[in-house]
Amino acid sequence: MTSVASNQSASSTVAPLRISVVGTGYLGATHAACMAELGFEVLGLDVDPAKVEALSRGELPFHEPGLPELLIKHVQSGRLRFTTSYEDVGAWADVHFIGVGTPQKPGESAADLRYVEAAVRSLAEHITRDALIVGKSTVPVGTATTLKDLLATTRATASLPGTVELAWNPEFLREGYAVKDTLTPDRLVVGVESEHAENLLRQVYAQPLATGTPWISTDFATAELVKVAANAFLATKISFINAFSEITETVGGDIGTLADAIGHDPRIGRKFLNAGVGFGGGCLPKDIRALQARVSELGLDRTMRFLAEMDDINLRRRDRVVDLAVQVLAHDRGDATGPAGHGGAGAVPSPAAVEVLHGRKIAILGVAFKPHSDDVRDSPALDVANRLYTAGADVAVYDPQGNANAAKRFPRLGYVDTLAKAIVGADLIVLLTEWDEFKTMDPHDVARLVDRPNIIDARNVLNPAAWIEAGFTHAALGHRFRGLAQGPADA
Ligand code: UDX
Repeated sequence: MTSVASNQSASSTVAPLRISVVGTGYLGATHAACMAELGFEVLGLDVDPAKVEALSRGELPFHEPGLPELLIKHVQSGRLRFTTSYEDVGAWADVHFIGVGTPQKPGESAADLRYVEAAVRSLAEHITRDALIVGKSTVPVGTATTLKDLLATTRATASLPGTVELAWNPEFLREGYAVKDTLTPDRLVVGVESEHAENLLRQVYAQPLATGTPWISTDFATAELVKVAANAFLATKISFINAFSEITETVGGDIGTLADAIGHDPRIGRKFLNAGVGFGGGCLPKDIRALQARVSELGLDRTMRFLAEMDDINLRRRDRVVDLAVQVLAHDRGDATGPAGHGGAGAVPSPAAVEVLHGRKIAILGVAFKPHSDDVRDSPALDVANRLYTAGADVAVYDPQGNANAAKRFPRLGYVDTLAKAIVGADLIVLLTEWDEFKTMDPHDVARLVDRPNIIDARNVLNPAAWIEAGFTHAALGHRFRGLAQGPADA
């Protein structure tokens, strides 16, 4: 965990700022604890009393490396407190960060802004002093301007003391690295409409700024767009390499080598070119959909049309894993030709796929959308696990952190609490989230536990030669699987 000194430089020249953070989910709880680590007094607000009670006891309701230590440290020091009361934060804080969710609307692509609107309205109704409200949530372009109007009209009706301004400061933290990304960000972007707002935010971020973090001060629209542009670009990079996987799966070739080779070009870069079962989580999928919805509203229907293609490529990766499971298990029982090709066993498995999968024991390694997280929102891994289960497979699901959240979503899957319990007696192992525990498995040890030596690497993290040498039929995304007709997996 990154540690930084107390915020003495800021506090020695001006009174230390009091900071509130509205919403204490992944984003808000991390931001609150990191603001305390930077030396500020912090009050976190959530409308959920159970969450506030847990956080006040120093208990984090989700998995995020390094955050529990920071939470306990600052709850104990008294610098970090939590409340459900807008009166409390409104009378107390100089700067109010908003970190509530902007999920996808059910059955639509657009973002649901009701929580962010409610946060601004509630703050406007309760702030009784000069203050700055700073949005951190990811929102469609134009939202900050709408919220500024909402703030003005609410303040006019409420007629409370103090001047309240709005700024936008998008958050780029990655789950699993949230503490590091907040304390030592790549860049700081602020959408501001006054020097006063910018100066306050420079005070908040004095420590990262002192270490040379780039500071981008801009208007609301640019600040809002920076965030969605970054996520759209990252999603595109992943889907780009995964589209090439469809080619190498068909004609042969090695997707990892291809990514390495193009990644050496500094204009391209190797990061976010890991081919696999694709992107998920609480940000990338919903952000690219919300962006398409927003540009359509603006009459720019064609502008982001390519993102629909990126979304499709991404979702087809899940079909491909289910398809491969059918092919590998058909190969295992001696079928000369199993159901082949892309999409044959997709979201609704074909009767032929069900016939192959029924009753076979499949070890599912990973349900979190990525390692170092317990988040299963839009997780490709959990989706694949559920599809295999729905098609009749007997799934044994193990994730070092994600089982509890997965069980809330799909209670009927078979969950186990160790890797060994998942793989013992398995006909097939499917590695779906690249936890270290899975990457470092010894193929010979695993061979002794399984019933049938079959493995699908849906994250391209295993050494195919080592698994084949241990007697496994190995299949991986981005690699041709030839089945019985043409010999073992094309490693
Ligand atoms: C993302 C952005 O990175 C972050 O800046 C933003 O603030 C929130 O959204 P996060 O959702 O935590 O962060 O995860 P990220 O590390 O970006 O991974 C997203 C998904 O892409 C994961 O499912 C991951 O497995 C997948 N991925 C990532 C790939 O499939 N291949 C890659 O090469 C990289």
